[in-house]
Amino acid sequence: MCGIVGYLGHNEAAPILVEALKRLEYRGYDSAGIATIHDGHLGRRRAVGKLVNLSDKLVHEPLAGKSGIGHTRWATHGAPTETNAHPHRAGDVAVVHNGIIENFRELREELSAAGLTCETDTDTETVALLTRHYLDQGLPPVEAAYATLDRLEGAFALAFLFDGEADLLVAARKGSPLAIGHGEGEMYVGSDAIALSPLTNRITYLDEGDRAVITRTSVEIRDSDGRLANRPVKTVDLGSMTADKSGYKHYMAKEIAEQPAVIQTAISAYVPDRGDRITMPEGLPDFTGIERLTMVACGTAYYACLTAKYWFEQIARLPVEVDIASEFRYREPPVSPRTAALFVSQSGETADTLAALRYMRDKADSILSVVNVPESSIARESDVALPIHAGVEIGVASTKAFSCQLTVLFLLALKAAHDRGALSDEALADHLSSLRALPGQIQDALTLSDALHDISVDLAEARDVLFLGRGLMYPLALEGALKLKEISYIHAEAYASGELKHGPIALIDPAVPVVVMAPCDSLYDKTVSNMQEVMARGGRVVLITDAAGEKQSGAEVWHSLALPTVPEALTPMLYAIPAQLLAYHTAVTKGTDVDQPRNLAKSVTVE
Ligand code: F6R
Repeated sequence: MCGIVGYLGHNEAAPILVEALKRLEYRGYDSAGIATIHDGHLGRRRAVGKLVNLSDKLVHEPLAGKSGIGHTRWATHGAPTETNAHPHRAGDVAVVHNGIIENFRELREELSAAGLTCETDTDTETVALLTRHYLDQGLPPVEAAYATLDRLEGAFALAFLFDGEADLLVAARKGSPLAIGHGEGEMYVGSDAIALSPLTNRITYLDEGDRAVITRTSVEIRDSDGRLANRPVKTVDLGSMTADKSGYKHYMAKEIAEQPAVIQTAISAYVPDRGDRITMPEGLPDFTGIERLTMVACGTAYYACLTAKYWFEQIARLPVEVDIASEFRYREPPVSPRTAALFVSQSGETADTLAALRYMRDKADSILSVVNVPESSIARESDVALPIHAGVEIGVASTKAFSCQLTVLFLLALKAAHDRGALSDEALADHLSSLRALPGQIQDALTLSDALHDISVDLAEARDVLFLGRGLMYPLALEGALKLKEISYIHAEAYASGELKHGPIALIDPAVPVVVMAPCDSLYDKTVSNMQEVMARGGRVVLITDAAGEKQSGAEVWHSLALPTVPEALTPMLYAIPAQLLAYHTAVTKGTDVDQPRNLAKSVTVE
């Protein structure tokens, strides 16, 4: 979603701001802009589309100045036009904003009555106009910004720049993250530390409700009650923040290929020294006393939860409810006693998941999260946050984060099972030994990339594709369909194989390829029957299975692919690879923007 950057220093701001915005491109955007102060005066440049358009504009209409703010906008209120692009300016103030101002209509009416009318369709312009209103009333810049912030409802990360104030930035955070970077006589602001990574590794993360007054040499932070707040300056690991493609054509290809290594890292973080025990952070609930686990997430993370439901129920004998965060938060479900709540999120900033967490705050026995960003809001607001150790994920379509989420959820399910007496020491040791072999098997699965490329050439011709799976493969089928539609724009749906006869079978015809995910496991025969039903109606099947499954399929499928054989419980992590590669190669064949698919944002910080 929108990205914010800010700079105060002794170098020209425009190139620094544009470079920092480039590092936020992965979040998704459709227009961009910067504003600077030069000779005491505010100037700005904005452009629709990719950042290269803004850079081109800056070549023809340069913007000097050693302080400034910048923004990549993912349109929410108003089309992606230059007029709607940030920074928004009203009189002596320019503002960049990530989030949604929920009461902007009331504010707009009030401002209009005071003679300040909006020129854009955005909610953000009201922030600039309101600040101007307070400036016009004689408030100094910082007070005008604070008075404005007091009036805002909704979620925001904001940065303000003022005409005549070349050594001042005001920043604020409520609901959307904001980081402040410390340099030598320079200060930076960024939606995340990735934006600032080559500039400084000394970062202060604002807390919820914080406001900051920043100059080249100082930062003063106040909490939501206006008290001076002492937020630590952390030294972040730039290595893990610096993301390049390492020779791959796309970040997504690189991130798919990284999976053996990052899964290995995730395993090592929780199963030290190749031991037979799982070590988790302090504060986990006593699973013997837990009667229900409620898991909440969005998108791919939701499918990771759906997968984990099988593990928690089958291995740990713990009843599980899984919900989509945007549904859960407004349904206001009653929470039965002795419920643990678990939130899964790569970014840790997804607005709906965060809101669901807050709903459960005083209702659940404990709040757990499985996150990739340890500094994220979801991690900070959890009783215990379990990092997935996937490293920075830049491709908008989640890949390595999904398999690391699965790995950590599997380990948590094993721990719960062991604690609850549902899993013996020997059975736990067996699971862990199989898990340790998994990165190698995933590496083997990656060698099937060329075969998946060949299949994708046919798949790219389709308008619709169906995915089928049973048991642990049902969430995988959902994930495969999501990956395909988000990056190749081919309409794809997934069904539990057993549901086929209850409606979707009507869709079967030779023009609709059916991808069947079916390892030769306890449910294999049933899935193969469903596959036969598809083929009997002229459906063309892509069978993704293992050697035994390929042998036993007994059918003339359109394409088939044999993955390494792994224990049933581990099939989701392995079968994620062909699901991802199929989508990737299909998108590359179709020539779509793999890493930044249209309309999508990496971190969905608005509901
Ligand atoms: C799909 C994808 C999204 C995210 C979803 C939740 O490839 O990436 O569906 O999984 O937006 O995001 P997080 O995990 O950051 O909460």
